[in-house]
Amino acid sequence: MPDFIHWYPGHIAKAERKLKEQLSLVDAVIEVLDARLPLSSSYENISGLLGEKPRLILLNKSDLTEPKELKKWIAAIEAREGFPVLASDAKHSKDLNAIVKKAAELAEPRIQAAMAKGLLRRPARIMVVGMPNVGKSSIINKLTRSSKTKTGARAGVTRQQQWVRINPQLELLDTPGIIPMRQADQQRAKKLAFVNSVSENAYSNEAAAHALLEILPAEKVNEYYGGTTIEDIAKARNWLASGGKPDIERTAVYVLKDFREGRIGKFILDTFPLPLGEG
Ligand code: G4P
Repeated sequence: MPDFIHWYPGHIAKAERKLKEQLSLVDAVIEVLDARLPLSSSYENISGLLGEKPRLILLNKSDLTEPKELKKWIAAIEAREGFPVLASDAKHSKDLNAIVKKAAELAEPRIQAAMAKGLLRRPARIMVVGMPNVGKSSIINKLTRSSKTKTGARAGVTRQQQWVRINPQLELLDTPGIIPMRQADQQRAKKLAFVNSVSENAYSNEAAAHALLEILPAEKVNEYYGGTTIEDIAKARNWLASGGKPDIERTAVYVLKDFREGRIGKFILDTFPLPLGEG
C-alpha cells in the first residue's frame, strides 16, 4: 500500500536553526499541543530540541475534547514530562491568567540566578512553540491583546525579534517558534492530517476522510450523518455528483471540516495510557 502522507523534507534544518536562535533568547517555553492529539502533536525529541528550557505544556483546543478525558491526559503528561500541563481554549479566551502565572513561575529561577550574580531584576522572556495549526498565533494574540506594549528589538540579536510586555514580570516573543515536521510514522502522520497540522498538498482528502472514519466511533458518525462511509454519508446528505453518484471529494472535504470543527463529537485520537519510551 502506498504511503498515506507524501513527505517533502523541505527546509527542516533551516527551521530548526531559526527555532534554536529564538530559544537562545528566552527563559522558558510554552509548548502548544492539540488536545485531541496529546502525544502525536508533540515533537519526537522535544527535550533534545528545547534543551534545558523549562516548559509549560498547553493542551489547546480543549473545547474540542471531553473535560474528564482530558484531565487524565493532563495528569499522565505531567508525570511523564515533569513539567506543568494546562488545558487551554484560545478560541474562547479561557485560562489565560493561569498560563501567564505558570509561565512566570517557570522562568523565575533563571531571573533569580541572574540577580544572584548582581544583575538587576528584569522581566522573564518566554516564547510559544508548536506544530502548525495547534493554535500558537491565537494564544499569542490572546495573551498580548490586552497589552500592546512593544518593547522593541533586543541588542545583539541579528534577526529582528519583537517582544510584547504581558505584565511587568513577563515579556513574550510575538512570533511563534514552529516545530518542523520530521518524517513521522504513518499512523501519527494521519492523525496530524486529521487535525490539519500537515500541508494539504501531502495527502488526498478522500484518503484522509476515509482513514478518519475508520477510527472515529461508528455510532457517533452515524448519529451525525446517518451513515458511516463516505458513500453513505454522501447519499444521506444528498452530496451527489452528476448522474446521482456520491460526490466523494466534496463529502470528504465536509467530513474533515466537520471533524476539525468538533461537529461530529469531541474526541481524543491518541490512545491512553501513554506508551513507554515516547517523547
Ligand atoms: P498556529 O499559529 O499554531 O498555526 O495556529 P493558529 O493560531 O493560526 O490557529 C489555527 C486554527 O485553530 C485557527 O482556525 C484558530 O482559530 C483555531 N484555534 C486556535 N485555538 C483554538 C482553540 O482553543 N479551540 C478551537 N476550537 N480552535 C482554535 P482557522 O479556522 O484557521 O481560523 P479562524 O477562522 O478560526 O480564525
